[in-house]
Amino acid sequence: MPPTELSVAGITVVQSMGNDPLLPVAVRRPVAPGQGSMTDAIAAWANATESSFRADNAPSEQAPAELNVGWQVITASGPVLGIRMETFEFGGASGQTTHRVFYGDGSTTWTGMDLVTTAGRAEVAALVRSAVRASGHATLDPDEVGAAGVDALLTDLTFSAAGDLVLLLDQGTVAPFSAGNLTVTVPQATAEPLLSERGRRVADAVRSGLPYAVSVPTSAAPTPVAPATPVAPAPVPPASPAVAPPPAAAVDCAKLKCVALTFDDGPGSLTGTLLDRLEAAGVVATFFVLGQNVRIHPDLVTRMVRSGMVVGNHTWDHRDMKRLSLDEARSEVDRTSAEIARVTGVSTTLLRPPYGSMSPQTATLGQAIILWDVDTEDWKNRDASITTSRALATVRPGSIILMHDIHASTIEAVPAIIAGLKARGFTLVTVPQLLGNPQPGKVYTRR
Ligand code: NI
Repeated sequence: MPPTELSVAGITVVQSMGNDPLLPVAVRRPVAPGQGSMTDAIAAWANATESSFRADNAPSEQAPAELNVGWQVITASGPVLGIRMETFEFGGASGQTTHRVFYGDGSTTWTGMDLVTTAGRAEVAALVRSAVRASGHATLDPDEVGAAGVDALLTDLTFSAAGDLVLLLDQGTVAPFSAGNLTVTVPQATAEPLLSERGRRVADAVRSGLPYAVSVPTSAAPTPVAPATPVAPAPVPPASPAVAPPPAAAVDCAKLKCVALTFDDGPGSLTGTLLDRLEAAGVVATFFVLGQNVRIHPDLVTRMVRSGMVVGNHTWDHRDMKRLSLDEARSEVDRTSAEIARVTGVSTTLLRPPYGSMSPQTATLGQAIILWDVDTEDWKNRDASITTSRALATVRPGSIILMHDIHASTIEAVPAIIAGLKARGFTLVTVPQLLGNPQPGKVYTRR
């Protein structure tokens, strides 16, 4: 998918991520202020998607199944917000990417199906079939299209600025897998009579080009609603001036008992608290960030650099790198490095592949691969005392400890982990301090 450049201020993200290479799961969904109904509908859909994936797929060493759900803003105009959820699912033999749109106007939420009248749906199916027929698609029988029901044709319904209706038809759902994803455009004049009242509202909002404005209830008082605040769709924010990291302390890890704390998958809503705790303890750590989270929380990433933390790359989408083409893998890494550099002015060549999963190709991306030798399994236990005891149980001089700054229990565990390490005489350092000068193409699990 092309980069998501349309972003809306105030949207936060909920991440459900495992770190199990035998069953890689990463589900990311938006929480949009003032769009409670839509946020709830997306949450219910995302939870159901993850549950059914987990019910259908067991962890496997031979051919791990993978679920990766991401999102993008497709419309933000007037009161209408449109979100496209994109799901990559690998079932052990082949992968498939599918899409589903949600629209909200503050009080209610709609899917693509709701935007077309009941009578219009059959008409849309007929239009799609004739478009497929006209395209002369080699492997696609037009009569098969939509055979499973018209809903499948309307999961990704969007409007162009000119009011044309655009349907994205997912590979393997409405068309044979080999056909790939198809796009069918219905011109505005043809589409207009097929739209429901909700469909017209969405089309009008897109055409209006108005700034996005939705009423955001204040959290203190649930009943009264604050006046509508215009929230302009935020273009990619300008790069902040380069942040000057403080000079790293000279530490000789050949002589000292060094250990590196590392945090993956952020930055997120809890990262600020974690930084408070690290700073209060006078401790540095290394953060392997997701590029899209850097886009959302640039302030936290600049703060990391200012406080002497090191920022490394954890890819843009948290896909299992084993399953990516060379171009895809390069894009995941380079896009994230570029975002880190844009925000902080600092470049990184430290990569932690999601799930610790990599192929020989991963080592060719110009990055030092930083794994770990102490796994707290914080993502699984979600318990501060278990996370703490796992961090301290097998640590030795030169260790790299794996944690994730998206779990409250992890943030809670950090002060005790720091105190425990210090009590045993460890010096807490960043990954570059620990390893000296990590080399691109090399894989490190410890010093
Ligand atoms: Ni991760």
